[in-house]
Parts: sequence; structure tokens; C-alpha cells
Amino acid sequence: MCGIVGYIGEKQAKPILINGLLRLEYRGYDSAGIATIEKTGIKCIKNKGRVAELNNNSNINSLEGTIGIGHTRWATHGKPSSTNSHPHLDNSGNFAVVHNGIIENYADLRDFLKSHNYNFLSETDTEVIPNLIHFYYESSKSNSKNRFLQAVSNACKMLKGSYAIEVLSSYYPDNMVVVRKDSPLVIGKGFNENYISSDIPAILSFTKDFYLLNDNELAFMSRNSIEFYDENIKPIQKQAKNITWDAGSAEKDGYPDFMLKEINEQPKAIRETIGSRIAVNSKSVLPDLEINKTYLKSINKIFIVACGTAMHAGLSAKTIFENLCEIPVEVEAASEFRYRNPIINKKTLCLFITQSGETADTIAALKLAKSKGSKTIAVSNVVGSSISREADFTLYTHAGPEIAVASTKAYTSQIVLLAIIAINFAENLEINKEKSEELKKDILLLPSKIEEVLKNTDKIKNFAQKIYKEKDVFFIGRGIDYTVALEGSLKLKEISYIHSEAYPSGELKHGPIALIENNVTVVSILTNRLLVEKSVSNIQEVVTRGAKTFIVTNQELNHDFDEVIRIPKTNTLISPILSVIPLQILAYYISKEKGLDVDKPRNLAKSVTVE
Ligand code: M6R
Repeated sequence: MCGIVGYIGEKQAKPILINGLLRLEYRGYDSAGIATIEKTGIKCIKNKGRVAELNNNSNINSLEGTIGIGHTRWATHGKPSSTNSHPHLDNSGNFAVVHNGIIENYADLRDFLKSHNYNFLSETDTEVIPNLIHFYYESSKSNSKNRFLQAVSNACKMLKGSYAIEVLSSYYPDNMVVVRKDSPLVIGKGFNENYISSDIPAILSFTKDFYLLNDNELAFMSRNSIEFYDENIKPIQKQAKNITWDAGSAEKDGYPDFMLKEINEQPKAIRETIGSRIAVNSKSVLPDLEINKTYLKSINKIFIVACGTAMHAGLSAKTIFENLCEIPVEVEAASEFRYRNPIINKKTLCLFITQSGETADTIAALKLAKSKGSKTIAVSNVVGSSISREADFTLYTHAGPEIAVASTKAYTSQIVLLAIIAINFAENLEINKEKSEELKKDILLLPSKIEEVLKNTDKIKNFAQKIYKEKDVFFIGRGIDYTVALEGSLKLKEISYIHSEAYPSGELKHGPIALIENNVTVVSILTNRLLVEKSVSNIQEVVTRGAKTFIVTNQELNHDFDEVIRIPKTNTLISPILSVIPLQILAYYISKEKGLDVDKPRNLAKSVTVE
């Protein structure tokens, strides 16, 4: 969480930093700040609230300088306040730091620094960093640039936890040092100017050439040079990567919010994710996945591990893998998996799903699986993200940048890619050829079917206008529809703050039905022909108790319900890709009716890089 941005060049840094922070605000938005180096030294302006408030801060217009750092915060240690906002300065005022991550041993480091007469103004973990840098800087005699670099490196060696850090020093008015460990940081290379950011889209309008730092690597930057070092200050070489994303894809493109844009981008995201990976009557093509047949035949269990919406994609994929590959699949939240000593050995394959590729728990779970001898596959949307540097294989969804905190196109693209992986496995295992061929045909038809589903938008919006004041909403479904109920319920609660629960339809009468009373809304997903009668009976049970019903279905129903959204028929295994869309739209319009900030819901951040 938190976004950091930096600029070193010939232009005024302030507008570039503000622009970058506005794009990174999805990572956290409870306070913001920037610092630049002026003739008189480091100047820092920060406040509680969003980047827009920082931009309106009466002092900001006086901020000058062509080198600067910026931060938008998602509070972990210390409540949102001006004092706790970044940048943080050391006691001498000669070092300024912005930090994304958590310093776990900050209390010990504070005590250590206090014993050397350092004082602390904030309640944050970050404030130890500039002071440690100052401490090491002062204990060195050298006068070279290495003194700055060495001081940052020595300070980092004291830190336990995760960090992406940018450091300014008034002793080095033409330089900046950046370093990362377990938190994202990219460097954009320009002409006589360089950029730093937590993610690529925030600075994509300035450059397309990026360097990705690995854990514990540092960069010493000037306007026209970037030198890379390992943790022992040994120089290392890096190649810039050219990013092909179009800068416009990180803009709203005329939509009022990123979420609505991203919902509507799903046909394209799915088309691009399929790419040339599958075609009817030919073998699937996954060049990034060199899994041989003998290995695959030895596998007796697959774990799918992820968080939030990505985990819901995994729950849907479980059914696909078990059907096509006939290997048992267990799906687990990364934050649980990593703390329960799961039984993993060489016969276990572990798959990790993460849009950002930066989710701390998912990365830690992958490291655990690897240490126990499992092969690891990551499914991510961000090229070069941290998880791709840890996994044995990384396969990318090509959904384009997802900016809204609520995940939409990443989820549907993940299910498509997982289905293609399952097809690839079945081909290698030489089983279920017919089923795979059927599924391929259905996958290829998805983009046009999603366009059909999107035509229901006005109808769904009308229903949202009827129910947006409700306190509780229930989502039900059976089989794979239940996994969609979970996702619909998460979408609603995260952006509309309405309490919602998802249950398997058959579980209602084992307890939850006690909560159903007059006018409560029950959303039901019904896509499996074999389960339709049983599911309709469950819906009748809630109708009898006064519930309002919103049904998403591709089946013929001979009953009257309050609202029925008809979606095209498809293979049940991939039905979540169609049935989730009305639920995304419903959550979106309920949030809009309530006048909420759809893209940046309270208390949340897009990338959860803390555990
Ligand atoms: O980047 P990741 O896919 O690893 O993120 C996982 C979750 O934090 C994410 O899906 C979250 O649940 C979304 N806000 C849901 O819309």
C-alpha cells in the first residue's frame, strides 16, 4: 500500500510529482506529501487528506526544484495526520525519505536512535529510516558519492520488513538514492530526466523504458545517469524493458470512473488474454509454461492460493481443473495458507493468482511452497511484478492496467487464463480431449457474449436505484454459481459499504434463512441446468419470507421474480465470466446512487503490500 513517486530532471518537479501521485492514489489516500531540493535545502509540504488537498495547500505554489519525491499514504503505523504523512526528515533536516512498506523492528530502531539522542515527531515506522541514514552518514569519513549510498545501504541492513524507499539529501542536491525490498518500485528512464514510481502506469505518459529493481538493489540517480548496485554496493548492470502498454489505457477515456471503464473493457481484456493461446482443433500454446508430461503425470494435488477477488477466480478455476485434469484442487487464502504448514511435496503443484503481482501474503505463500519443493506458477497482470521474479513460471493476463480498487476485468481475465492452463494440462495428460475442445470453442465466444451481457446495464441500474438504501443483501448460488455469489458479495460490500453475505443456496435453511425478512434483497445466480430446479426452490423459500429477488440466469424460469437478468448460455465451467458482470454493474450503480467514491473506497488500497 502507499504510492511513491520521484523525479530528477530539468523541469519543475512539483507538477510531475502531483500528477504521479494522483495516478497512484488508488494505493492509499489518507494523506499526501512532496519534498524537493531548493537552493536553501530540502523543502517539504504534506497534509492529511487526498492529493487534491495537497495540491490546494496554500504553501505548495512556493515549492520549487527540479528533483523531488512524493507519497500518498495508506496508514499502517500512526493515524492519518499531517505529522504522520510522508516525506519524513531526519533530525538535521538533511535527509528526506518516502517509504512504502512496513518496518517491523521500528520500535527497537527507535530505542537505538533515541539512545544516540535522536528525537521523533511522528508515530510512524518510517521516521527511523532518515535518522538511521543520518546516523550512518555521520559515522563515515568518506566524501565521495559512496558516502550517501553506503549510508542508505547500512540503514537498510538494519531494517526488518518491506520497503520501497526514495531518499533525497541536501548534501547531494543533484542526486537521489532509491532502494527496494518486498515492495514495488520502478525506474523510468527519460532524456536528461528520470522518474521513479510504485507502478508503471503512473509514469507511462513520460516514458516507456523501465528498469525493475530486485530485492535489496539500490540505484544512485542523477538527471542523466542511473547506476545500480547490490546491497554490498557492488555495481550491477541492468537492461531497460520497453513497456508496450498505451498511456491512454491508464486514463478514464470519457468514463466517469475507472471501475465503469474497466467493466466495459472486459470483452477486450478477455480477447487479449486469449490472444493466440488457444484455437479450435489445435494444441494450446503457452510458451511461458514449460511443464513436461512426466512431471505433470506425477502431480497428485494442486493448490490455488490468492487473496480477495483473485481467490474467487481460483475457486471457479478449481471446478475447471478438477473436471479437465482430474487432479484434486484445494483453494486457499494466502494469508491462511502461509501460516498453517500445508502438506506440500514434489507431487504438489502450486498456482498463485494476483492481479498486481505485489500482494505480500501471496508472495510469501509462494516462497513457502517453493521452499517445500513445489513447482510454482504465478498468474499476474503486471509484467515484471515482484511475484514474477519469484515464481518458476509466470503467465500474464493481458487485461491492461486495472486502476479501480474493485477488481473486475482482472477477475474475468484470470478465470480465462486459468481455463487455458487447465486445457494445456489436460492436453499434456492426454485426457478429456473432447471436453477441452468444447471448452476452447466456448472460450473463444466469450468476448461477444460479454458484449451481450453489458447491454443489460440500464436494467441493472434501475434495480440499483430501488435498493441502494438497503442495509443487508444476500447472494446465493450452487456449485460454480456460489463462487460468483462470493465475488458479487465482495464487490457490493467493498464499494457500497452495504453489509452482504454469500451462501451456497442449499445452506440457507441451515441457519442464514433466519435473517430473511420482508423486503431484504436476495441475489441469485443460476447457470447450471442440472441444478436449476433445486436452486429455484431455494429462491422460492426466500420469496415466501418476503425477499426481493435479483436473478442472473441463462436458464428458462417459469416463475416471476423482481428482476431477471438474462445472460447468454455458455459452458458451465466458464459461466462465472458472464454471470459476474451484472453483479459488478449492480455494485457500481449502488455505490454511485449512494454518492460514494467508487474507484477509491474507504479503508482499502489496490495493492496490499503489507501482511
Ligand atoms: O493484486 P491482487 O490480485 O493480489 O489483489 C488481491 C486482492 O487484494 C484484491 O483482489 C481485492 O480483493 C480487490 N479489492 C477486490 O475487488
